[in-house]
Amino acid sequence: MGVTVTPASPADRDDVVALWREAGLTRPWNDPVADFDLALAGPASAVLAARAGGRLAGSVMVGFDGHRGWVYYLAVSLTQRGEGLGRALMQASERWLEQRGCPKIQLMVRGDNADARGFYAALGYDVQDVVTIGRRLGGKV
Ligand SMILES: CC(C)(COP(=O)(O)OP(=O)(O)OC[C@H]1O[C@@H](n2cnc3c(N)ncnc32)[C@H](O)[C@@H]1OP(=O)(O)O)[C@@H](O)C(=O)NCCC(=O)NCCS
Repeated sequence: MGVTVTPASPADRDDVVALWREAGLTRPWNDPVADFDLALAGPASAVLAARAGGRLAGSVMVGFDGHRGWVYYLAVSLTQRGEGLGRALMQASERWLEQRGCPKIQLMVRGDNADARGFYAALGYDVQDVVTIGRRLGGKV
């Protein structure tokens, strides 16, 4: 069955958010609907959708901050894992960033997500010796 990876449109929002929920990527302190809308709101970010037989099978959020490229919310449908869709989505993210002159792609993985760490290692991604430091904005603690 042919797989395509193309930018998601606003019409894909419900299906994409359902996929993120199914994949266990959402957290109570994040609003996935707002995250989707923000990613589609400007030219520096996008959500890429993998479709098999016309149906959403996976997606990834990608963005370029002007220095590095970042990937978030990579998810493949439970019934379609192990078929190369995750790799196809990461390759599409790399192309999206290269087309914008971005020299490096990076991402954050929760430390206990051994499956994702194995997946990224299989794709040639290295663990880097950095600590992520952050603070919520907008008056939230
Ligand atoms: C991680 C995820 C996106 C992988 O998608 P997928 O479509 O199953 O992966 P692919 O079939 O493209 O696999 C690509 C390669 O990774 C390898 N791989 C996949 N999962 C792996 C694992 N748990 N451990 C080791 N290698 C793994 C595959 O064997 C394959 O290698 P090969 O091409 O050399 O045979 C999918 O498991 C998923 O949606 N997980 C839940 C959400 C998640 O954790 N996302 C990442 C957040 S940072």
